Amino acid sequence: MDILLGLQWGDEGKGKIVDALTGKYDLVARFQGGPNAGHTLEINGEKHVLHLIPSGIFHKGKLNIIGNGVVLDPVVFKKEVLSLGIDIEEIKKRLVISQKAHLILPTHRLLDAAYESAKGKSKIGSTLRGIGPAYTDKTSRNGLRIGDINSDSFGEIYQAHANEHLRMLKGYDVSFNLSDYEPEWFDGIEFLRQFRFVNAEYLVSESLAEGKSLLAEGAQGTMLDVDFGTYPYVTSSNTVSAGAFTGLGVAPAKTGEVFGIIKAYCTRVGSGPFPTELLDTTGDIMRKNGNEFGSTTGRPRRCGWIDLPALKYAIMVNGVTQLFMMKADVLTGFEEIKVCTAYMVDGKAISEVPYCMDKIEKTVYTSLPGWKEDITSCKKWDELPPRLKDYIAFIERETGVPVKIVSVGPDRSQTIYR
Ligand code: GDP
Ligand code: IMO
Ligand code: MG
Repeated sequence: MDILLGLQWGDEGKGKIVDALTGKYDLVARFQGGPNAGHTLEINGEKHVLHLIPSGIFHKGKLNIIGNGVVLDPVVFKKEVLSLGIDIEEIKKRLVISQKAHLILPTHRLLDAAYESAKGKSKIGSTLRGIGPAYTDKTSRNGLRIGDINSDSFGEIYQAHANEHLRMLKGYDVSFNLSDYEPEWFDGIEFLRQFRFVNAEYLVSESLAEGKSLLAEGAQGTMLDVDFGTYPYVTSSNTVSAGAFTGLGVAPAKTGEVFGIIKAYCTRVGSGPFPTELLDTTGDIMRKNGNEFGSTTGRPRRCGWIDLPALKYAIMVNGVTQLFMMKADVLTGFEEIKVCTAYMVDGKAISEVPYCMDKIEKTVYTSLPGWKEDITSCKKWDELPPRLKDYIAFIERETGVPVKIVSVGPDRSQTIYR
């Protein structure tokens, strides 16, 4: 099993690269997160955004798994399946769902909204897809799972959960009508029934024993991990490589490569610390050139330079063996490329990610010369401008990890393998 993860704050381009690599694998699996994710794929100019379905779905003959670590909203799932432009019988062949994956209920979304508005100024900037409340119920042993759909008393179990959520919602200043959401949700449940609910841990283990290869597709990014991210401004799952073991039921010893995905710069959507954020025209140019608007919520993404202390930290906690640099084309035309090499905390330069990232007073940068050449049609490493290669060499030297893929545009074909 190889694991592919975002090393920043999400939206690094995981979807694009999973799709580009799927040809080499037999199975592709999502192991955490839910429809807070938005993974964009472009195939021959046609764009698809996936929230729950693994990014291997567009390849015939590959099996995609939604693992036990995922939280699934049946409403989003149905919409997504119907938007793929693939015959549903074919999708059923290509996709299975772990019985142990948890369901997002309509009341989870309501709770998400209630918690966020109660936080006022310190809100997380959640995607409001019900992710936090669904994981909370999972760990407090109050969750509803995919396998429960087959229970004769599913309706009653659902009602008991919904009643408990309604009781909790009474403590918040929110108005809603649950009957506006429930019919669509139950319709989604009926739709789900036609898919294969599996013991995914057995399926994965047997597939690996037969010599099949698996690519585990991370969602979000390391700096949004519930343990290692910029807590509390994080998501509610383990986005790091360890999450693949618990989110699929695979032993750590089965791991091959750990692919760390980075943008050539850095973005964040939602609240929380972002040391290299650019609040000036340079940041605006990155947003414009990189089309940095959220795939799930459409919100403008905050943009900034690459952050080496955070990147080294992400490489450390994930055990990254190869880096893939995405969106290198977005930096074309910048006079200089800046790289954050240290943070100033209490007047001292440090190179470790501190407990509270918002205690960082200043960031220390090294500047490298930029390049002017349009790289979007480059097909080979040799065609890339020397200054981009210098930038990559700098990151390799600093991190000690090779950059094996450079992405020069959103399309599957705009991918340079080294
Ligand atoms: P993910 O969540 O990590 O899968 O990333 P998103 O799909 O949310 O965001 C990445 C965005 O960048 C999407 O709009 C992609 O189509 C786009 N993208 C991916 N790779 C490249 C690239 O190399 N160059 C450019 N210009 N866009 C890219
Ligand atoms: P992909 O997989 C970027 C952010 C939200 C918010 C925080 C918590 O596309 O990279 P949540 O909805 O989980 O309660 O939100 O995490 N966030 C993401 N940011 N990419 C994502 O996924 C994200 N999923 C959640 O913006 O700040
Ligand atoms: Mg995304």
